[in-house]
Amino acid sequence: MIGAILVSGRGSNMAALLDAAARGEVPVRFARVVSDREDVAALALARERGVEAVVVPRAGLTREAHEARLAAAISDADLICLAGYMRVLSPGFVAGRRILNIHPSLLPAHPGLEPQRRTLEAGDREAGCTVHRVTAEVDGGPIVAQARVPVEPGDTVEALSARILAAEHRLYPEAVRMAVAEIARGEAA
Ligand code: GRF
Repeated sequence: MIGAILVSGRGSNMAALLDAAARGEVPVRFARVVSDREDVAALALARERGVEAVVVPRAGLTREAHEARLAAAISDADLICLAGYMRVLSPGFVAGRRILNIHPSLLPAHPGLEPQRRTLEAGDREAGCTVHRVTAEVDGGPIVAQARVPVEPGDTVEALSARILAAEHRLYPEAVRMAVAEIARGEAA
């Protein structure tokens, strides 16, 4: 199975996926990384790992035109993993594609921006991360897998975010494995 990863920034989840695939722990060949922004750490991390990394900028384009270029850049991908990709994909793009996303909360709690801060503000005693299938609803698609971490007394957003991120790096490869197995079962049926 051929995979593509979409990024907008730091790229630590992308690196976790590429490294797990290189170790043979994820049955996906990630052929390309696409960023909507230049000068992000993810691009260098992908290239260091021998993976082609390209920029498909959004500036000056309509969403439709941007997504047409994106679709061309990942046309060979059977599976698309969003890893810190900061754009909402249109219903038309999402339809008929297999797309996963990772989000740093226990969805359906705290969809959208700054979930770690909102987890603390809500006084939750537990936090975590979710890998879900991407549908037209932001952070709303069917859940593939979740990992839980405790909220510690006196936690800051930074401390909680770091604890969740470590869990994300373990969860995403595992969830991709599960999604690929599900796809294989579906195709066999
Ligand atoms: C992660 O917390 C991910 O859950 C969220 O954006 C962050 C991306 O971090 N969607 P990184 O670029 O993978 O380091």
